[in-house]
Amino acid sequence: MKVTVVGAGAVGASCAEYIAIKDFADEIVLVDIKEGFAEGKAMDLMQTASLNGFDSTITGTTNDYSKTADSDVAVITSGIPRKPGMTREELIGINAGIVKTVSENIIKHSPNAIIIVVSNPMDTMAYLAHKATGLAKNRIIGMGGALDSARFKFRLAEALKCPQSDVEGIVIGGHSDTGMVPLISKAGRNSVAVSEFLSEEEQAKVVEATKVGGATLTKLLGTSAWYAPGAAVSELVKAIALDSKKMFPCSALLEGEYGLSDISLGVPCILGKNGIEKIVEISLTEAEKENLVASAKGVRAVNDLLEA
Ligand code: 2OP
Repeated sequence: MKVTVVGAGAVGASCAEYIAIKDFADEIVLVDIKEGFAEGKAMDLMQTASLNGFDSTITGTTNDYSKTADSDVAVITSGIPRKPGMTREELIGINAGIVKTVSENIIKHSPNAIIIVVSNPMDTMAYLAHKATGLAKNRIIGMGGALDSARFKFRLAEALKCPQSDVEGIVIGGHSDTGMVPLISKAGRNSVAVSEFLSEEEQAKVVEATKVGGATLTKLLGTSAWYAPGAAVSELVKAIALDSKKMFPCSALLEGEYGLSDISLGVPCILGKNGIEKIVEISLTEAEKENLVASAKGVRAVNDLLEA
């Protein structure tokens, strides 16, 4: 398996690092526009191979997409990250042009690649990648839900005072502070509903902390987070590489699922060698349905800015 990661900044480098450490890819290519930057990150990472025990090779290139040829998966992390106080949506002006060019370059050299979009505003960038490439809907995956669900589990374990391995949680909807829909009704500790352990007020606090998970980190770090985003991407790539049919919430192009169309939005997806192999429609409470519809409305408003 050959994986390209476009953007060798903190998120891109973390993706490459976790993919390498998990050791399922033969080749990882890092691409960046900054002269020598991807080459440097790749060399630094390669010097961890004997220490971390992986055999994947990592190379870097300054914007030479011929080096990415015949990639099975390409991850787009390029664009600017948000600064404290900024929403992901405010990045659209700069990132839309970048994501369009990058997705076209990827497909030119790797016509069969599955694309994972990480750049923000992610749901709109995934939708844009569909428009720019015309690829089948299974081949464009927006990474947001896997990250938001990991942050949900972190907050659940914190509230439950238990190990994260004890908790289950899934976040659907848009990857934005207001658009995320953490499904608290389905969250549990070893299959026991969290409502058995947490008051409504405590559950609401978990939901709110999850929704602003990225913003909280941006405030602390002065830029957006990278470890959990990188780890989340590596899990999606691994599911594709191993054809594992694992379920992750991903931003997928909807064509009637959940009553929504012509939008990329976070919904549970089965991932395998063909990318999104199935969109899973689950039952939602009335409040969750309303929140998902409101989330779609917010994402559509950002999508509309693409044409403006
Ligand atoms: C985040 O939530 C990068 O959007 C990403 O941290």
